[in-house]
Formats: sequence, structure tokens, C-alpha cells
Amino acid sequence: MITVKPLPLKALHADGRDVVVFGYEDGTLAGAKVLPGAAKAALAQKLKGEGFKGKAKEIARAELEIFGKSRRVYAVGLGPRKGAGAEAFRRAAGSLVGALRAKRERVAVLCSENLQAVAEGLLLGSYKYEEYKKGDADVLKEAQIVFADAGSRSAVEKACAKAALGVEAVCLARDLVNRGPSDKTPMSLAELARSFSGSGVSVDVIEREQAETLGMGAFLGVARGSAQPPAMVHMVYKPKGAGKNRVAIVGKGITFDSGGLSLKPAQSMESMKCDMAGAAAVLAVFKVIARLKPKAEVHGIFAATYNLPGPDAYKPGDVLKAMNGKTIEVWNTDAEGRLVLADALCLAAKQEPQAIVDLATLTGAVVTALGSSVAGAMSNNPRLLGRILAASKRADEPLWELPLVEDYKDNIKGNVAELLNISKVRGEAGSIIGGLFLREFVGGRPWVHLDIAGTAFADNDGPCGPKGGTGAAVRTLLEWLAAL
Ligand code: BES
Ligand code: MN
Ligand code: ZN
Repeated sequence: MITVKPLPLKALHADGRDVVVFGYEDGTLAGAKVLPGAAKAALAQKLKGEGFKGKAKEIARAELEIFGKSRRVYAVGLGPRKGAGAEAFRRAAGSLVGALRAKRERVAVLCSENLQAVAEGLLLGSYKYEEYKKGDADVLKEAQIVFADAGSRSAVEKACAKAALGVEAVCLARDLVNRGPSDKTPMSLAELARSFSGSGVSVDVIEREQAETLGMGAFLGVARGSAQPPAMVHMVYKPKGAGKNRVAIVGKGITFDSGGLSLKPAQSMESMKCDMAGAAAVLAVFKVIARLKPKAEVHGIFAATYNLPGPDAYKPGDVLKAMNGKTIEVWNTDAEGRLVLADALCLAAKQEPQAIVDLATLTGAVVTALGSSVAGAMSNNPRLLGRILAASKRADEPLWELPLVEDYKDNIKGNVAELLNISKVRGEAGSIIGGLFLREFVGGRPWVHLDIAGTAFADNDGPCGPKGGTGAAVRTLLEWLAAL
């Protein structure tokens, strides 16, 4: 990872280091207030000569004398000016790092808008997953964002600090998702949670025996197929002073989803190490929460277990009883996420929070409906949903609401138990069914369910990160918590 820090303009005069500007398709450069008008015009002219079109992902190079020295200038495309928001800057900054990481040691970025997004893009774009192999070390070590005066200095400093905090969290979530499934046992995730204790954070790990006492039969049912012990992890952040609000974030932590006895085909299993991405997001938030300092008490809960067809695995036809007493008929052991979340949500509701947000790689159906760039959101509370949607807009992590259609409730009515874990009507509204099922366990509390099955794991490299774990929803959660 590179570091991103502020740089005073006068430092640029001291040497001929490379600088970076952002440009739109209309031939204009983005607000780089530090660039004198004449230099800006000369640069735009020169870049035009180099064939720079300002298209997204485009990078051009020119040699030019600015700030008293002849130097190399990189121009990065933002796409069309109309509609170019923070995300255009984030992606452009990420592309820049991709292009220069093996070439230049440091660059100074001339930009005076969307600073946090620029810093995030630089950092996110430099992420590499290196727990098992270290490739060649990057040449690029540092990017600097140039400021001209005291006022912009503090803006740049704040942007760099906020970006670094968020990206630190995102990168933990990425690392955890990318890790091999056998190397991220439920207990090891619980240990990681424990390592966040101190400075306002306390951690309680509910192991099998205690989960039995608490009546977490749905969670324990899924865990039966694995030799590895499950862990229901409960972290609590308490703000200094009297935080009146209490919220809970809840993650699905299936450390590998084989489907259980309703075994998945080999190809569908290939990426199922990602099935703990919800838990990874919760852990990621707690890694930085003491520095984020939200004003509310925050409970972070995740249900961690493998879903495997071991000798004592739960079976289709089994009836499980969740912590709130509801009985569930299992028709398909591959619909395990809603089962472990049932108990995690009961535990969350027991804390009597004003808001519960769960994150889960819950359904393949959400990938069909919304693809890999947009997560599905379902809620029993329009006010809370509005806040989560607003936070996701600030983070540029798109969400789309799916309706919890009451008519479909009948489809998960059990024959011998209260609920079914899949719909009687196959192939219809799979993500909504998942949401309707989860709603049964939130005790009527305001709740939002985010189905991140499409967004948590990327099949292709992107400007702000390689294929694999994306850290989906982490920045949305941080935005939401910071605004409480
Ligand atoms: N973990 C999967 C969902 C998933 C699919 C996540 C693709 C990431 C990418 C989940 O546990 C699952 O298997 N869901 C089933 C539900 C079905 C049996 C009702 C599915 O989507 O097929
Ligand atoms: Mn499954
Ligand atoms: Zn799953």
C-alpha cells in the first residue's frame, strides 16, 4: 500500500517531481486551484497535442515547465464533465496508481475538489492481497496532494485522514475475504475480534455450549456439518459520555459455503470463501471504530461457521428452533445464511437497539437482479432505510431497494414448523424471500438488510481494487455510523 499525504505547494518548487492533473472529456482540467491560469491553459494545450481525450481510465503524459521546473505531468481522464462526481475522481486516482505503481516512486496530485475520494482512490488502487505470495514490491511509495494555503491545508489533511481510516477498514475486509477458507476458522475470526478490545470496545465470544443455552438452534444446526467449532461474536463499542443511541450491525460469517448436504456444484463453490464478507465488514468497522468515534453505542455481531456436509450435518427435513422460539423447517441446507443470521439478529434485537443493519452474501438471486455493482436493500423502516441509502450515496456504494412483498410471506410458511428456509415457489423473488425470512427475527426493531452477494467479490480487476474481496459496504457503514 502507498501512503497519501498533504504537500505544501512551495515544496513543489524545490524539485522537479512528477505531478498529476485530472481532465474531463470537454478538454478542461478539473479544479486544480494551485495551478496558475496560464500554466493550466498551456498544460491543457500540451495534453491535447498528446492526444489526451479525458476519457475514464485514460492516462496521458506531457513534459512541461510548471512551478519553476521542467517536469513530467500525468493527466488522468474523468470522463464527461456532466455527472462526474466523487466516484469519477476515485476511479481516476485508482487508475493512476495502477499505471504508475511499477514506474514512479512518488507523484504530487494537483486537485482541489473531491479530495477524500481522490485519496481513497489512490489508496484503494494500491491494495494488493499478499498473505500467501508477495509479488515484486511496488516502485510507487507515496502520493501527495498539493495544497497552497492554510485553508486548503486543513481540507487536504482531513481528506487524507478520513480516507486512510476508511481504506484501512476496507482492506481488512478484503484480506479476510481473500484468505483461504481453511485459514479463517470461526475461532480465528473470533480471536481477531478479541484483538480489537480496549479503548471503548469490548468483545464477547459465544461458543457452542453457551449458544445452546441461549437457544441458538438455527445457528447451531448449520454448524453441525463442520468439525470446526462455530462462534457467535458480539463486539460492543461504547462512546465516551452518554451515547443515547444504540445500533447494531450484524454480519453473515459463513467461512465457507459448500451448500451442506444440498451440495453446490463445483463451479458455484469456487468463490464461496467470500461467504463471510458480511462478518468481514463488521470486523472491518470495529478495527477502526475507536478512531471513528461514532456518537452512538454500536453492537457488532457476526455468526461464524462453516457450512459443510460432515457426518452429523443438518439435513433437509430437519426442524431448527431459533433464539426467539420460532421453528424453521429446513428444505435446503444451502439456504444457511438466513439460519445463522436468524440467531444473530435475535441477539441483536435483544440489545434493544434503535437500528439493526445486517450484511450478508445471502442470495445468488441478487446477483441476477442487480449484478456486481449494486447491492440489494430491504427494510421494515423507511426512515432507517433512507439514512442507509444516503450513507451509501456518500460512499458511492450503490444500493437498490427491493420490496418486502407481503403476498410472498405465504411461500415460506412451513408444513410441520412455522417457517421454511426456502420458498415453496422456486425461482421467484429469491432475495426478497431471504429478506422476508430475516424480518421474522428482528423483533419489530427498525432494520435494514443488505444483500451483498453480488458486490462482495469481484471477478475482474477494477480501478480501485483487484479481483477478489472488495470490502463492500464497509465505507457505507462508516458513513452511516459517523453521522449518528
Ligand atoms: N452464499 C450463498 C449465496 C451467494 C451466491 C453468495 C453467489 C455469493 C455469490 C447462499 O448461502 C446460497 O447458497 N443461497 C442460495 C439460496 C437458495 C438455496 C434458496 C442461492 O442463492 O442459490
Ligand atoms: Mn448457501
Ligand atoms: Zn451462503
